[in-house]
Order: sequence, then C-alpha cells, then structure tokens
Amino acid sequence: MDGNGRWAKARGKKRTYGHKVGSKNVDKIVSHAFKRGVKVLSLYAFSSENWERPQEEVNELMRLLKVYFTKFLGKVIKNNVRLSVMGDMSKLTPELQELIAKDIEASKNNTGSILNVAINYGGRQEIVYAVKKLLEQGEDITVEGISQNLYTAEFGEPDLIIRTGGDIRTSNFMVYQSAYSELYFTEKFWPDFNEEEFDKAILNYSQRKRRFGRIEEE
Ligand code: FPP
Repeated sequence: MDGNGRWAKARGKKRTYGHKVGSKNVDKIVSHAFKRGVKVLSLYAFSSENWERPQEEVNELMRLLKVYFTKFLGKVIKNNVRLSVMGDMSKLTPELQELIAKDIEASKNNTGSILNVAINYGGRQEIVYAVKKLLEQGEDITVEGISQNLYTAEFGEPDLIIRTGGDIRTSNFMVYQSAYSELYFTEKFWPDFNEEEFDKAILNYSQRKRRFGRIEEE
C-alpha cells in the first residue's frame, strides 16, 4: 500500500494525512477483493524497517491500526472473514496486541476469506524465524520445512502481489513465498487505488502464463 506520503505531499499536506486517507481505502479494497473471490488477502501495513520513520509518523500509523482493529469486530467479522496477522507483534503496545488477539479469537471460526495483515513484518526476518524454529525442533533445513514454518504456512504462497505507488521492487515482502508469485506494479498511489484499478490488476494477472519453472503443457 505504497504512496500515501507522496499522495499527501502532492496536495500540500503532511505525510500522516496520506496515511489517514490511505487507511480509509483499506476496507473498500478488502471488500472488493473478497467480492471478486480472493481467498486470502495480505496487506503490508507496517514493515520492520518502518520504525525508523519520524516518531510522529510511526505514532500515526499505530493509531490508525488501533482504529482499524477496534472497528474490525463490527464490520469484517460480520462478513465471515477470518483475521490473521504476520510479523513480530511483541514490539507493539500491549493495548494493540490485545486488540489484535481479540479480533483473531473472535473471527477464528469464520469460514470465508482470510485477511492477513503484516505488521512489524520483514520477509528476511521471517526466514530467520522459520529456520530457528526448525533448528529448535532438531529438524532438517529443507525448502518444504522452511515453508511450513513461515507465518503463511497455513495458506501458502501468494498468486499475485500488487504494489501501488510506482516503485518496482518488493521491499522485504514475502521474500521466500514470492519465488513464483506474479508481480503487478501500478503508478497509482494507494489512496487513489480503487476497485477499477484492482480489477485491472486481476485482469492483467489472468492473462499471464504461470509455468513455475516448467514448460507449457502441449
Ligand atoms: C507506504 O506509503 C505505506 C505505509 C508505510 C503504511 C500503509 C498503512 C496504511 C495504508 C494505513 C494503516 C493500515 C491499515 C491496515 C489500517 P509511504 O509512506 O511509503 O508513501 P511514499 O512512498 O509516498 O512516501
């Protein structure tokens, strides 16, 4: 969900205003994606590197997450969505951790789509975390073993990764899982990314040929 800062600057506003508007866009796109049949939607809300931003900006992002997870119970849960999070939650305030735990618990029996929010998340750190778990269990380090110990073990690898904001890189997002993911980049800043833009990404994805290192079937 990149481009909040530039979106705000272009309007002569502070970066935090961009995040505020960006956070209002989240529900719209989440609902739309689920309406389109997406089974697991992951959002990169806060990276392990984002702590290095100015304190005011970090505070605002944490505040927005608090608002989001406070309202989550009423809205998304009603729609049979199950919440999952990935990242190191231990650096978040106890209040935010509790809020998230409550939403996860309340939605755990929901059978519809899964909303997976990455907070204090880094793909490299996740690989280290998975390898450490294997070592602790005395297991061999294998490709499959690492996959099974990532945060995403339950739901596997993303088919499509969309990055808004014009940068052509994945910035430590699902480093291990994205080996064969399709990547889609759009110039649109996150606050301007709407249902139509989402559909463009899906259409583009549907026209790709995925071979996973193999050759095409005759
Ligand atoms: C990147 O834009 C965006 C973020 C670091 C935060 C994304 C967070 C939200 C959309 C709001 C909170 C999330 C939820 C789930 C409620 P940037 O600041 O790097 O923009 P720039 O590249 O233009 O500077």
